[in-house]
Amino acid sequence: MIEEAEPRPLVHVTPPSGWLNDPVGGLVHGGRQHLFFQYVPTATEWRHTCHWGHLVGDDLVRWRHLPVALAPGDGDDGVWSGSAVVDEGGPVLFYTSVLDGQLDLGRVALARPADGELAEGAPGGESGGREPADGELVRWRKHDGGPVLLPPPDLDLAHFRDPFVWGRTGAWRMLVGAGLRDRGGAVLRYSAADLHRWRYDGVLAEAGPGSGLGDVWECPQYVDLDGGPALVVSIMNGGQLDRVIAARGRAEGDRFVPGRWQVLGYGRSAYALTTYRDRAGLLVGTAWLRDGPPGVPRRDWAGMLSLPVHLTAGADGDIHVAPHPDVDTLRTARLAEGATGVELTDGLADLEVTLAAGARLRLDTDAAPVVLAYAEDGLTVESGGEPTVVPVLRPGSELSLRVVVDRGVVEAWTGEGRWAAVRVLGLRVRAATVLGGGRLDAWALDPVQEPA
Ligand code: FRU
Repeated sequence: MIEEAEPRPLVHVTPPSGWLNDPVGGLVHGGRQHLFFQYVPTATEWRHTCHWGHLVGDDLVRWRHLPVALAPGDGDDGVWSGSAVVDEGGPVLFYTSVLDGQLDLGRVALARPADGELAEGAPGGESGGREPADGELVRWRKHDGGPVLLPPPDLDLAHFRDPFVWGRTGAWRMLVGAGLRDRGGAVLRYSAADLHRWRYDGVLAEAGPGSGLGDVWECPQYVDLDGGPALVVSIMNGGQLDRVIAARGRAEGDRFVPGRWQVLGYGRSAYALTTYRDRAGLLVGTAWLRDGPPGVPRRDWAGMLSLPVHLTAGADGDIHVAPHPDVDTLRTARLAEGATGVELTDGLADLEVTLAAGARLRLDTDAAPVVLAYAEDGLTVESGGEPTVVPVLRPGSELSLRVVVDRGVVEAWTGEGRWAAVRVLGLRVRAATVLGGGRLDAWALDPVQEPA
């Protein structure tokens, strides 16, 4: 049975058609933000024949789809996740090239803008129109020589994919996500002078047997977080995509020694968080928001991207997640101030909420409500299915919450830097109410991703 088409969210990115998973390759070029994503244009389920869809924007919320950047072909049966760097020749996309029949062990390959793509079009000029302006990096050319790195034969590897590259000319570094037989998820590290000839430098970090931290670590991200290193990985457990975990820690020789592991994006939807710098240098994260339990057939589209989040080092030792400042620019009319409730006409709003201990925010829908309940053990998010608990550091004191409500999805951030994203198929919130002590302010939002 084919379901009715699900209404699209109004401020979250969805694929033009078909399937979307991981966001990848965030970069700035000519003053504009570019972001790519795993894309299967012709199916609403994942297929190994992934492409790189392409988004461009003058900021991180007003995204426009450009034509597919990378597609299978030229020896790639699928173009899987990776990352982007900018060298003196311009942006370079690193992707995982997979071969049918050998999907678990990918190869690292790269692509550069095709001739004539590097002219930098003026931001705000033609970019608002339908036709891509010059310098929008529309056409990409895969490196003629094929993959630049194959999985090392002498490690007992079950999985190898998702290059994450950083550095500068003469000193490039790369991580690759992996699964080691009997050892679990791991991140392998490499170095190169020229982006092409990579040397294996050992394991950066690994789950370790029995750690519960996953048997494959996908989409590794290694970032400088306000002066110290942090590692982010998306973990697969028993063949299932599980969650995004991250840790601040310290570098010891070629190893990263993690401090405390934390979840980034509670709610069982966020996965494959990618990190990149915005045009002002802030560290940004964007995750794939999964649709929830598999098995619900989708007609037109599946998968969406989270709103951009800003990642910082919190005084509590954890990574703090907050909505990126560009999200604020979506606000239009104020709908409520110091109120206990607000009605929403289009299922879209930005809320600032204060909850007393024991209070809750109820989002009424045509079906079951979504409830964010603040109790001793944390902030429980109920959206049908198993509830999720977001940790609260100072239970008992007032909790501030930022909540963006969109069609099919709710994202919430505690003032303490924790983030939850819940995806509910067909969700349309009609009203938001604070119960048991607290207040809310509400704003309407510009529906920038509304389908034409
Ligand atoms: C994560 C992931 C990556 C892989 C890609 C394929 O969701 O499994 O490891 O490169 O998706 O689409």
